[in-house]
Amino acid sequence: MSSVNTAIQLITREEAEKGRSVAGSTCSPALAKGPWEYDLAESLAGVPAYGPGASSGDDAPRSTPRQGQLPEEYKLAGDAELDARIRAAKKKLGSRAVILGHFYQRDEVVQYADFVGDSFQLANAALTRPDAEAIIFCGVHFMAETADILSAPEQAVILPNLAAGCSMADMAGEDSVEECWEQLEEIFGTEPDDAGRVPVIPVTYMNSSAALKAFCGRNGGIVCTSSNAKTVLEWAFERGQRVLFFPDQHLGRNTAKALGVPLEQMPMWNPRKELGGNDEQTLLDSRVILWHGFCSVHKRFNVAQIEKARADFPGVNVIVHPECPMEVVDAADGAGSTDFIKKAIAAATEPTTFAIGTEINMVNRLAAENPQHTIFCLDPVICPCSTMYRIHPGYLAWVLEELVEGRIVNRITVDDTVQANAKIALERMLAARP
Ligand code: 13P
Ligand code: SF4
Repeated sequence: MSSVNTAIQLITREEAEKGRSVAGSTCSPALAKGPWEYDLAESLAGVPAYGPGASSGDDAPRSTPRQGQLPEEYKLAGDAELDARIRAAKKKLGSRAVILGHFYQRDEVVQYADFVGDSFQLANAALTRPDAEAIIFCGVHFMAETADILSAPEQAVILPNLAAGCSMADMAGEDSVEECWEQLEEIFGTEPDDAGRVPVIPVTYMNSSAALKAFCGRNGGIVCTSSNAKTVLEWAFERGQRVLFFPDQHLGRNTAKALGVPLEQMPMWNPRKELGGNDEQTLLDSRVILWHGFCSVHKRFNVAQIEKARADFPGVNVIVHPECPMEVVDAADGAGSTDFIKKAIAAATEPTTFAIGTEINMVNRLAAENPQHTIFCLDPVICPCSTMYRIHPGYLAWVLEELVEGRIVNRITVDDTVQANAKIALERMLAARP
């Protein structure tokens, strides 16, 4: 099976030649270009953007990091030259550098990774290489920040393209969460009830800035991943009357619903509106206040796609990520983190057809790795995570060759105080048990 990028190049070329749509489609022909073209467009426009792909329609806050210009030689180098240069630099660096690749990263980059996994597995994988001076994180910004928090101070975490952020993480800014918190404190006060439960516990999804993890650490809160969200919510309900969950409304809603929280007790907090768009009583009656954030990749999945998969492949096993909307999770056979999806496929002993609701690079890789099964993405349009896609082999070659020369570029550093508070929230997560 060809890689996502190869498929996009082919579709775009054929469409241009024939002047019409061909079999297969992509959400943006601009995906076929080198990401440096968007770096340039952003610097000319003076505003950051997520580039083509699933998040292209989302607003990137002005504070979103931008990538400076990639040196020309890396833009001009062909695939074979970049491959040779990456391999040579990696060989020269040896154990001094470790390359991490997220499940959603494109194959052209993942092939060089020493570890491939989900965001938390990768942050921990870095711990197994204390001798590595540099951790090259081929994922997105919040993942690199987490790796910096968990790694030794002398280890440098490098994000090959600084514009590889996460549009969902950017939907909850530190200032807007602080403002929300102040408004909630005015309504709820700060005194615990008779059972000793405080009015509200902040819970942040791993897909958030280090600043928000630190906010949770400072305010009696906790971090969760998509694998442990249920355990973490139970932890929070033992200590609080209600939860403020950010940034992903869908993970929050799907998890709280599975715990029996009624939908009417899960109001949404829209940071652009007074009281998040709610009245006081609704907030007082709430159990989970959901931040108005979402993932634009997982938002693309819908119930009609599941119905089509069931009609086309009777007996199909539909598994989706819990960042998908509630109706999609309800209509699926299973929902879980990227690691859950991987393990569900590995556990199937008989040839099975799987329709998967998560990012296309991961789904195609699972299909290639498990030829005994039929595995396809529920979304028929090739639309990768735009930000993850901005890490092209050219950027990897650049950061590695700079390292060989003794220069660290694109280092991600989290301030010491932020680190200390974020660690508190991460340690609470690690200590939380079902
Ligand atoms: P994981 O935490 O499972 O790696 O997922 C990260 C992500 O961005 C999902 O959209
Ligand atoms: Fe963020 Fe969605 Fe991309 Fe995951 S898939 S990194 S949540 S934008």
